Amino acid sequence: MSYPIDDIRSQFPALRRTHHGKPVAYLDGPGGSQTVRGSIDAIAQYMSAGGANLHGAFASSRETEAAIDGARLSIAEFLGASPEEVAFGQNMTSLAFSIGRALSRDWKAGDEIVVSELDHRANVDPWILAARDAGASVRWLEADVATLSLDLSRLDAVITANTRLVAIGLASNAVGTINDIRRIARRAREVGALVVVDAVHAAPHIAIDRDTLDADILLCSAYKFFGPHVGIAVIRTDVFEGLGVYKLQPAPGDIPEKLETGTQNHEGIAGIAPAIDFISELGFGPSRRERIVSGLKRIENHENSLAATIRDELLGLGNVTLFSADSSVPKTPTIAFTVEGMTPRKACTLLAEDALFAADGDFYASTLARKLGILEAGGWIRVGLAPYTTESDVSRFIDAVKRF
Ligand SMILES: Cc1ncc(COP(=O)(O)O)c(C=O)c1O
Repeated sequence: MSYPIDDIRSQFPALRRTHHGKPVAYLDGPGGSQTVRGSIDAIAQYMSAGGANLHGAFASSRETEAAIDGARLSIAEFLGASPEEVAFGQNMTSLAFSIGRALSRDWKAGDEIVVSELDHRANVDPWILAARDAGASVRWLEADVATLSLDLSRLDAVITANTRLVAIGLASNAVGTINDIRRIARRAREVGALVVVDAVHAAPHIAIDRDTLDADILLCSAYKFFGPHVGIAVIRTDVFEGLGVYKLQPAPGDIPEKLETGTQNHEGIAGIAPAIDFISELGFGPSRRERIVSGLKRIENHENSLAATIRDELLGLGNVTLFSADSSVPKTPTIAFTVEGMTPRKACTLLAEDALFAADGDFYASTLARKLGILEAGGWIRVGLAPYTTESDVSRFIDAVKRF
C-alpha cells in the first residue's frame, strides 16, 4: 500500500506556508514537529466551548476532566502503559526536575546515578542536580566518538550495586542513534536501579512499548509528535505510588494527579489525543494500539528511505562531515553534519533563504558536541525528517548543500 503523502500533508496547515515564494520544507522536526489539524481544532474547540478548572459540578468542568482522561488513555495506548501511570507537565525538562527532586529524597552519600554522554542535557542535569543535593555521585556511560553510539563494553563497571538510577535516551536528538535500552535496563535490574528513558526524540519515529524497554519512567513531549507543547511522564505504578512528590497540601495525593502541580495546560492536553489519532489512522488492526504501531511503521519506512538518500548524498560531498553511526546501528531520520569553512549558523541561514528550515547548534546534546570538538564552532547543522517530508523537500535540500 502506497504512503498517502498528499493526504498527510493536507492535515498540516503549516505546510501551506511559503518563504521567498517557495513552499517551506520544515526540516527541524527534532526541534518540534508541525501540528496536525486535529490537535489545533481540539485546542480551539476546548477554549471556545468554555474552559474550566477541575472538580466542578458543571458541564465545562466535567468536559475538562474528560479531555484529560482521554489524553491519558491515548498516551497509555501510544506507549504501552496504563492511564493512571500517565502524568502531564509543562515539558519534559520540568517533569524530570520534579521527579528527580522527589526520587532523591531517598538517596544518600555512597549512592550513584548513571547518565550518558549521548543524551540531551534534559535527561542529564535534572538527575545530576538531584544527586548533588542528596550527596550521591554521578557516573557516565561514555559515547564512542567513532561509532556515535554508547560504549556498553563497561556497562557492568559503570552500573554497580550502588546505582539507584540509570537515565538514558532512547534515541539521540543530535545524531539519531537508537540506544540498546533493553541491554542497559537488564543490567540496571540486576542491581535494583530505576530506569529512566528519555523518549522525547524517538517518540515520533518508532513504536515504543514501555514494558519491552523495561523502563520505570518514560518521558516525552507532545510537541515532537504533531501535538501541542505538553510534557508527559509515564511512571510505573509501584514507583509512582512510592514517589514522594513536592505538592501542595490540599492537592490530590494519588497517582497520576499528584505529580501535576497547579492548573495544567488544559487546552494543550485536549490536543494530545488527536495527535495520536493522526498516527493510528495511518495504521491497521482491530485495536488502537495495533493501529498506532503499524501507523508508526509506515512513518518509519517513509522517513528512513528519505534519510538514507540524504546520508548517501552527504557522504559523497568532500566539504561535508556527516556525524552518523554506520548502517548496522538503528537510527531515527535525524542527520547532523558540518560543512568545511562554513559555520552551521551560516549554512542554516543559506538554507533558510531557499525555504529550507533547518536548525544549527548543539541542541543541548552538548556533552557529545564537546567531545566531538565542535561545540565552540557552533555545533552541527541538523535536518530531521517527518511524516510530511517529501522527496522534493529532500532533493531541494541536497541541491542547496551542493551549492555550499
Ligand atoms: C532528546 C530530548 N530530550 C529532552 C528534550 C527536552 O524536552 P522538553 O522541551 O519537552 O523539555 C528534548 C528537546 O528537544 C530532546 O530532544
